[in-house]
Amino acid sequence: MTIQEAIVARHSVRKYTDQAIEPEKIAALQGCIDACNEEGRLHIQLVTQEPKAFAAGLWKYGSFSGVKNYLVMAATKDKGAEERIGYYGEKIVLLAQTLGLNSCWVGLTYKIIPGTFTLAEGETVHCVVALGYGQNQGVQHALKPMEKFYETPAGQPAPQWFLDGMMAALLAPTAINQQKFKFILHEDGGVEAQTLFSMAGYTTIDLGIVKYHFETAAGTANFHWK
Ligand SMILES: Cc1cc2nc3c(=O)[nH]c(=O)nc-3n(C[C@H](O)[C@H](O)[C@H](O)COP(=O)(O)O)c2cc1C
Repeated sequence: MTIQEAIVARHSVRKYTDQAIEPEKIAALQGCIDACNEEGRLHIQLVTQEPKAFAAGLWKYGSFSGVKNYLVMAATKDKGAEERIGYYGEKIVLLAQTLGLNSCWVGLTYKIIPGTFTLAEGETVHCVVALGYGQNQGVQHALKPMEKFYETPAGQPAPQWFLDGMMAALLAPTAINQQKFKFILHEDGGVEAQTLFSMAGYTTIDLGIVKYHFETAAGTANFHWK
């Protein structure tokens, strides 16, 4: 499965089987995590075979079960770090999908288990991402009309690469499926991605996620970020 195929196949999965993630898949994920941490100045950590963070009965919303593997999305506390958490985290999520694993970003319904990861001075846990073999493959969220999510210069028709990027952005996970983002295609071919207001928050992490999707499908050779 390619990353582009993973963008289509990925849906949030909240119920997992007991099947452990094989050592070679853990090694592949760890290689990607290490590269993302270095490039993105992040401290993402993979925790495996640890059931307490998602222990049953702790939370009602989200109804997770069987989660034993998760990414702890640790980084410094600034807005830039939030966007990088989204961008690089989604890169790891899509790699996991190509390896036959399922995932779900989780902002609230987990418990921090001391001793399972480390934080450096000034770092915080922004969220976690559940990983593993799902009991199901999840379901596609309803797709809204694409035109609501972008603007072009003087309302001109958008080029195909831009529409491909938009389609991938619309398939991306966002907190409570809020999709509070907008893409603007500028005259010089530059693309700007903006967050819109949300009471729920998490829009900057969402922005990083949708930018990774957009870039993967639009092709980095076709545009530059503004
Ligand atoms: C930053 C972020 C936080 C999220 N937090 C939660 C959560 O706390 N509980 C939950 O069940 N789902 C959570 N989700 C998953 C979203 O509900 C899900 O991505 C959205 O409904 C779209 O569905 P899809 O991922 O299947 O496309 C989160 C997603 C993101 C991106």
